[in-house]
Amino acid sequence: MSKHSLSRRQFMRLGTGALVAGVGAKTTLLQPHLLSAAARPVPPSDTVRFASIGTGVRGCELLEATLRVPGVECVAVCDLYDGRHDAAREAIKKDIPATRIYREILDRKDVDAVIVAVTDHNHRRIVEDACAAGKDVYCEKPMSHTVQDGFAMVEAAQKNKRMIQIGSQRVSSILYAKAKEIYDSGKLGEVFAINAYWDRNSPSGAWVYPIPPDASESTIDWNTFLGDAPKRPFDAKRFFRWRCYQDYGEGLAGDLFVHLISGIHFITSTNIVAQRAQSSGGLFHFNDGREFPDLIETLYDYPKFRVALRCNLNNDGGEFIGFYGTKGTMIVKSSTVTFKPQDTRPQPESYSVKGWARKTREQYLQQWEDEHPEPKALTSNVDEEAETFAAPPGYSDVPDHQAHFFNAVRTRKPVVENEVFGNHAAIGCHLSNFAYSNKCVAVWDANGRKIVKA
Ligand SMILES: NC(=O)c1ccc[n+]([C@@H]2O[C@H](COP(=O)([O-])OP(=O)(O)OC[C@H]3O[C@@H](n4cnc5c(N)ncnc54)[C@H](O)[C@@H]3O)[C@@H](O)[C@H]2O)c1
Repeated sequence: MSKHSLSRRQFMRLGTGALVAGVGAKTTLLQPHLLSAAARPVPPSDTVRFASIGTGVRGCELLEATLRVPGVECVAVCDLYDGRHDAAREAIKKDIPATRIYREILDRKDVDAVIVAVTDHNHRRIVEDACAAGKDVYCEKPMSHTVQDGFAMVEAAQKNKRMIQIGSQRVSSILYAKAKEIYDSGKLGEVFAINAYWDRNSPSGAWVYPIPPDASESTIDWNTFLGDAPKRPFDAKRFFRWRCYQDYGEGLAGDLFVHLISGIHFITSTNIVAQRAQSSGGLFHFNDGREFPDLIETLYDYPKFRVALRCNLNNDGGEFIGFYGTKGTMIVKSSTVTFKPQDTRPQPESYSVKGWARKTREQYLQQWEDEHPEPKALTSNVDEEAETFAAPPGYSDVPDHQAHFFNAVRTRKPVVENEVFGNHAAIGCHLSNFAYSNKCVAVWDANGRKIVKA
């Protein structure tokens, strides 16, 4: 989110909380609410002590973000690649113990919660063990690598009465909160169609990450990385570019669809799995041995609306969600949300009467005017004007999401993106991939807790 926020210059022009007349639209700058996420200042006795398991790219980003969350303290980190122990210490700006063995962290009595930011295929085992050890868990998205993993994690959380939050941070974004407010207000009318995409156009966006020069079997615990995945000889490409391989990741669906699905579920208050999915796409450009397409489009059926998602690694379209309602359109794009009303007042038919003789047409229009005295047909605009809400410059939803989690650890009050929410969103990703790889319509069998072919 921060990458796309307004520039400082735009911000200075707007001023905090300002209303600005634009071209047919006003823009309101949203206020960050991070500090209000804590109901009161956190006394030292309420400090949540946490450890991080998985301190790769995301793990380090999360550690850095915790520095902005009140009342938390990182006491240890764990990763399978030694280089990441120092990266983690640098991110948290503290010399803390680091280990390759996550059980050492779970055995510590002074650890209240863990952040799990390991590769997707290892989420399940670590979350199950953390719950059994009595730790609350912030687990990165997508929650599960398989449908079975997801239900096992739900069971572990519920059996052990643990607080779980999954890491699709849009759910805690001030922008998405505004979008939800607009959606809930009914201003959009009935929404039957939702379109979203997340497009990137760079090797980094396609996970072609460089491999550190010291990567080897002596600096990386390869066998533990494999976990329950099939055994194979050390392969640094698989370790650092794991998203490209089905044994460890879920391709674009698990990486990016999950954010879009979580955002849509949050805004529309949906907490179920889509009923069915159909996918299309292909591997067009990044032919580097990966096992997932670089373009995927999926159509989802939900009971009350349809959702069309796309991820394309060959165009820099950014992140977008559009809600198309009978009374208006809402677009969430980059760091803004825009609501545009539609003129839904009755209007006389103006198109097909062009084929009528003038006298008949005029009679029709006169009669229509007589029957609809107010408002004047086709002459005035709708009362409500288009409105844009923007996140302030540098806004990041990550500390907000973390603050929600750590507050829940402290207060035991539920979070929105708990294990059930996260499981539903992740199954949406599995539906997409199932439909794509089996070239079929994927149907969610809720009773059987499995995906079946139509
Ligand atoms: N919410 C977001 O916006 C966001 C962004 C990026 C990544 N993620 C998620 O974060 C997770 C990590 O992604 P990443 O980009 O940091 O990957 P990464 O490859 O940079 O880091 C993953 C780390 O997990 C470690 N690991 C794997 N198995 C382990 C185990 N059993 N014990 C200890 N450490 C283990 C590896 O050593 C590796 O360093 C993934 O689930 C990914 O989907 C979320």
